[in-house]
Amino acid sequence: MKNIELIEIPKISDPRGNLAVIEKDILPFKIQRVYYLFDVPSDSYRGGHAHKELYQFLIPLAGSFDVVLKDGITEEKIMLNKPTKGLLIKPGVWRELANFSSGSVCLVLASEVYFEADYIRDYQEFLSYVKNN
Ligand code: TYD
Repeated sequence: MKNIELIEIPKISDPRGNLAVIEKDILPFKIQRVYYLFDVPSDSYRGGHAHKELYQFLIPLAGSFDVVLKDGITEEKIMLNKPTKGLLIKPGVWRELANFSSGSVCLVLASEVYFEADYIRDYQEFLSYVKNN
């Protein structure tokens, strides 16, 4: 699917513990906001929306979860389970997050501050939006 990309985060391995670093050149946007999901019940479902302008980069800092992605034509499910592999989601992609493992943490780097008007939270509305854009 276009508009999504798995990006390997450079890692500095060390017997004292690994270090992963995200510098500005690995992402196609300037980070304006950081938030994270934690203490997520395993039967929880998050997301269920798309964005008009927002870019997001999801990193499973701990544990794992599934991301279902839809662009109005195809659908893809990606399991994120490595803290050195993140998922870039560009605008115009419907995403649903589920199957969070116990103790999992999802870090999200975003290109804009929170702005509710950028969300498309209704799936039928999303389908018309992608058809017309
Ligand atoms: P929501 O978009 O439903 O989260 P998710 O996509 O993970 O399922 O957001 C939950 C609530 O938090 C909603 O009331 C909006 C609010 N919120 C903020 O105030 N700021 C933020 O940066 C985010 C992501 C959400």
